[in-house]
This record gives sequence, structure tokens and C-alpha cells, in this order.
Amino acid sequence: MAKPILFSGIQPSERLHVGNYFGALEHFAALQESGKFDCLFCVVDLHSITESFDPKEKKEQILAVAADFLAAGLDPARSVIFQQSQVAAHSELAWILNTITPIGELERMTQYKDKAARQKENVNVGLFDYPVLMAADILLYRAAAVPVGDDQLQHIELARTLARKFNNRFGKTFIEPKGLLARTPRIMSLKDPAKKMSKSQPEGCLFLDDDADAVRAKIARAVTDSGSEVAYDPDHRPGLANLLDLYAAVDPDRREPKTIAKLFAGKQYADFKRGLAEAVARRFEPYRKAKAELARHPERITAMLAEGSAKANRMAAETMHDVKEKLGLAV
Ligand code: AMP
Ligand code: TRP
Repeated sequence: MAKPILFSGIQPSERLHVGNYFGALEHFAALQESGKFDCLFCVVDLHSITESFDPKEKKEQILAVAADFLAAGLDPARSVIFQQSQVAAHSELAWILNTITPIGELERMTQYKDKAARQKENVNVGLFDYPVLMAADILLYRAAAVPVGDDQLQHIELARTLARKFNNRFGKTFIEPKGLLARTPRIMSLKDPAKKMSKSQPEGCLFLDDDADAVRAKIARAVTDSGSEVAYDPDHRPGLANLLDLYAAVDPDRREPKTIAKLFAGKQYADFKRGLAEAVARRFEPYRKAKAELARHPERITAMLAEGSAKANRMAAETMHDVKEKLGLAV
């Protein structure tokens, strides 16, 4: 029996940070290892051009995210790793789904509202339509499972709605996908524990390729709360709780944040921060090495994406054939 399909994607824009790692990449690798799914992992470049960008940097950003996939343990021999814009069916299905998407559903999208407020000079139709392209990404492969951070659940809900609507109107075609959340679905900014760590605020980010010195400096400056005892109390001490969540995420023994707080009982915040910085730096050392090695052979990454995209194109063609039949477009 064929396994259920799993799909996820990451935009090639700024460098990836530890939020992307624990909310997405690490989880992708674990799901691949579980052997329960046939996995597709996509560099969603068409999504990334809805925000201001420099064409001169795009190719490098695409190759960098593909290298992040590999450094995190995704394996092209077992998973399809590919580039969205090399599979034209993503755009084609997005157009078709547009015709069954009520504008009101898109107007409610939190991410759209946030981004539109942030980039007032560039509120383009692509930014508005972003969730429909995302639904197309998922439905095109009839994916059942979609690992994401919690900020993406609203978009997955739309993909479910559109699958249901299409099936009701034109006959059973799509699967309603489910979002899968990681153990740490949300890492907050080092500068403001009320906001999630985000590429749009680089000063609050811990990037995956930050070296040990940068990690130490950033964690030393991370916002904590007044108080001096190390204790896990997300409601009253959210800054410290975020750092404890991060510690738990990098801990090789996978201990809970509360257990980690106990290890530092009677110690100062500064001691805890030093311990955390070392744990983070140690955790990402092999990752940085792997990525540096991959960066020396960009042609290998290009070839891998071409191969993955060819596979994805074959899978997508089957769905598009079915979709066109259902719509009465096949003459
Ligand atoms: P993006 O960089 O927005 O394309 O995000 C890539 C993936 O990382 C998505 O699945 C996001 O939900 C996830 N992600 C982004 N920021 C965070 C964060 N601060 N904490 C946890 N997951 C995140
Ligand atoms: N919108 C997602 C993000 O910002 C990226 C994405 C695009 C995605 N298409 C997808 C994630 C399909 C999962 C499935 O993180």
C-alpha cells in the first residue's frame, strides 16, 4: 500500500533561524525518518517574491534553503526535494482554486494583515493570494500531512476548506490535509518575548549559521525579566521561559524546560545564559560544518533540485489531469 503523502515548504528569503529549525526543519527530518510518509519538501520561491526582494540574491537564497534541507538531514534518495517554480502546475492549480476562494476568507488571514501593514508600499495581489498558492502546493500532491509552525495553521485550514469545496462541487478529487505541529512550534524573539522570532526582525533572531561567538553575544543580550532565580513561568516571566524552551529544544537529552530550570536552581541568570549559549553553539556546530561543505558544491544542489522537480512534475501532472477532467476543461 502506498504511504500517505507529506508536503512542506520553506521560503528562500533571509537566512533561517532557530525558530525555523525547531518549528520546521528538525520536524521534517524526524517525519522523514519515521518512514510513515512519502515526503516532498519544497523551496517555495514563488511565495518569496510576494515580498520585496533583489533578483540578484534570489538564486543564492534558493540554493541556501536547499542546503539547509540537506544539512538538517533531508535525503533526496528518500524524499522529493524540489523548487516550486520548476513545477508550473503549482501556479496553474492556484489559478483554478482562486475561482472557488471567497475574497472574505483571504481578508481574514492574519499573516496577510501583518505583512500588508509592514510593507505598505508593496501590498500586491500575490501577497493577498499567498494562501491559495499554498493550498495549491499541498492539494496538488494530495498530501495528507503538512508539518508547519503554528503561524501557518490558518493557511492549512483554508487548504482544507478549498479541498472540501472543490470535492463537493466537482467530485472527490483532493484530500483534506492536516497540519502537524513540532514539539517547539513557536520560538519567540530574543528582543521581545511577546513576538515570535521572525526574519522580518533580524535583531531578535538567532541564525543557524551564527558562529559560537555570535551565539554567546546574542544570548547574553537576550531580554529576560526582572528577578534572578531561574524558574519556568511562561505567564509571568516570558523572556526567561522562551530561553528555557530554547534550551529544551537543543538539549541532547530532550529534557523538559522545567527540568532544565531545576539544573540552574540557586544560580544567576548570567550562568544560565552562558550554559544556554554553549548548548546552542554545540548543537549547531555539525549543522554549520555540513552547510559549509555543501556551499562548496552548488552544482550538486542545482542537480538535486532538477531531479526532484522532475519527479514532482510527474506527480503533479496526474492530479492536473484529473482536475481538468472534473472541471470539463479536457476536450
Ligand atoms: P518561513 O520562514 O515563514 O517560510 O517559515 C518556515 C517555517 O518555519 C514555517 O513552517 C513556520 O511556521 C516556521 N517558523 C517560522 N518562524 C518560527 C518561529 N519563531 N518558531 C517556530 N516556527 C517558526
Ligand atoms: N507559507 C509557509 C511559511 O511561510 C511556506 C509554505 C508555502 C508552505 N507553501 C507551503 C508550508 C505548503 C507548508 C505547505 O512558512
